[in-house]
Amino acid sequence: MKILVINGPNLNMLGIREPDIYGRTTYESVCGKIRDYAAENGVEVEIYQSNHEGDIVDKIQSAYGKFDGIVINPAAYTHTSVAILDALKAVSIRAVEVHISDVNEREPFRHISYAGMACEHHIIGHGVDGYLEAIAYLAGAGS
Ligand code: DQA
Repeated sequence: MKILVINGPNLNMLGIREPDIYGRTTYESVCGKIRDYAAENGVEVEIYQSNHEGDIVDKIQSAYGKFDGIVINPAAYTHTSVAILDALKAVSIRAVEVHISDVNEREPFRHISYAGMACEHHIIGHGVDGYLEAIAYLAGAGS
């Protein structure tokens, strides 16, 4: 099974960025945790991060026919991007939405998730372990 993990803007700043909200684990260590977990569970994983909406759309499109699942934390684009929603719908790859923080307990503008409308499962507020849970979900849920 091949899973693409996509992270949106400012997630490359994990560890530095608002540690009270996002924790002190750096983006590099999060990627390490994901890679180790995937290897232990026989999953092939590619990790991608971009601060640019169009690049994320391109990456989702390029996953068509190549990946069995997408784990996506679109970060701020969660709450604004119909383009990312449409790209997920276009490729029709099973997708899981991850948010490190509990967006539903934060500002009202974070309560709407466009990308989440194309995701079959949502892991919200479980910290960086949410990425591992999302991989476990996709690997375990009948593929
Ligand atoms: C986030 C929540 C978003 O509202 C925010 O813009 C992010 C990170 C999270 O993982 O908790 O950048 O997606």
